[in-house]
Amino acid sequence: MTGDGALTFRAAGPADWEAVAGLQIASWRSAYRGMLRDDYLDAGIHAERRTLWRSRFTGEPGPDQVVAVAEDGTGLVALACILAGHDPIWGSLIDNLHVRPDRKRTGIGRLVLADAAARIPAVHAGTPLHLTVLDANLPARAAYEAWGGEFCEYLDAELPDGQSLPVRRYRWADPDALIRSLLRR
Ligand SMILES: CC(C)(COP(=O)(O)OP(=O)(O)OC[C@H]1O[C@@H](n2cnc3c(N)ncnc32)[C@H](O)[C@@H]1OP(=O)(O)O)[C@@H](O)C(=O)NCCC(=O)NCCS
Repeated sequence: MTGDGALTFRAAGPADWEAVAGLQIASWRSAYRGMLRDDYLDAGIHAERRTLWRSRFTGEPGPDQVVAVAEDGTGLVALACILAGHDPIWGSLIDNLHVRPDRKRTGIGRLVLADAAARIPAVHAGTPLHLTVLDANLPARAAYEAWGGEFCEYLDAELPDGQSLPVRRYRWADPDALIRSLLRR
């Protein structure tokens, strides 16, 4: 694919927490510049995201946290985190989806999300999926619309940099249909 070895997908485990945090930090610094505050992206993000991912993996993640990663010979290139059955109305939450900045738009986002969705525990089979995305994040919105996401509503979200910013919610009523759409090529 890039000469860096085959792309493989797997569930992330506790040993991955630093690499997962590092990938999200790099992704936010690249994609969220101008959306989140510079002082957060330049400094505060480091401790804040590392604390979050360490506790998600080494605390008590619970059986319904699904984290899938894609990797090649260079390390992690994408991650998708789903909190299965997170909300009684909206269903499972796609909480994080990141492709390493130098590998965006090569189809890895689709594949890692499909892999994570396929790992949702059977007890949540058929449960809808949803996410919120910053209104200003036009590339991600374009991806969700390309993947058949249904726009539901505008709302404001509290961000880790202390701002409250407008976001949009998208949903997929049928997780199996989402997986088929992601894998269709
Ligand atoms: C959003 C993101 C996960 C998408 O993953 P990706 O691997 O880049 O996307 P894919 O290559 O799988 O793209 C699939 C389709 O989505 C759409 N799409 C993706 N990025 C797009 C962009 N920048 N502009 C327009 N359409 C886009 C296209 O239809 C694309 O298919 P195509 O390339 O054949 O036209 C990735 O770009 C990313 O990590 N962005 C930064 C972090 C982020 O914003 N995460 C989401 C937070 S809510």
